[in-house]
Amino acid sequence: MNAQVLDPCSASRMMWFDKGDQRALFGDIRDEEHVLCDGRVLKVKPDVIMDFRNLPFPDASFNMVVFDPPHLVRAGRESWLRLKYGILTDDWRDDLRKGLPSASGYCGRASS
Ligand SMILES: C[S@@+](CC[C@H](N)C(=O)[O-])C[C@H]1O[C@@H](n2cnc3c(N)ncnc32)[C@H](O)[C@@H]1O
Repeated sequence: MNAQVLDPCSASRMMWFDKGDQRALFGDIRDEEHVLCDGRVLKVKPDVIMDFRNLPFPDASFNMVVFDPPHLVRAGRESWLRLKYGILTDDWRDDLRKGLPSASGYCGRASS
C-alpha cells in the first residue's frame, strides 16, 4: 500500500480538491449512492469499507490521517445532511474514543 494519507471517513470527499488523489486511501463505513432533492447525485464510494473504531492498519502506516467523523446527533432520515455526512450513534463518545487513538497512531511513518 503506497498511500501517504488515510481518510477513514471520506464520505463524498467534499474537502478534497482532487477526489481521486492517489496519495490518499479513502475509507468509509458506507458505500452508497443517492439522488439529492435538487437532482445532484451524491456518491459515497470509498476505496475500502472501514470502521474507524477498528482500523486494520499497523501503527505509523501513514504520514497523515484526516479524521472527520460524523458530528450530527440527529438529522431527518432522508435529509441531505444525513446522506452527506452520516450521523453519530448513541454511543458516539465511545466510538470517538476508539477512533482517535488509532487514527493518531498511524501518523509518523518514516519517509522511505
Ligand atoms: C462528516 S462526514 C465526512 C465528510 C468528508 N470529510 C467530506 O469531505 O465530505 C462523516 C463520514 O463518516 C462516516 N462514518 C460514520 N461512522 C463511521 C465509522 N465507524 N467508520 C468509518 N466511517 C464512518 C459516515 O458514513 C460519513 O460518511
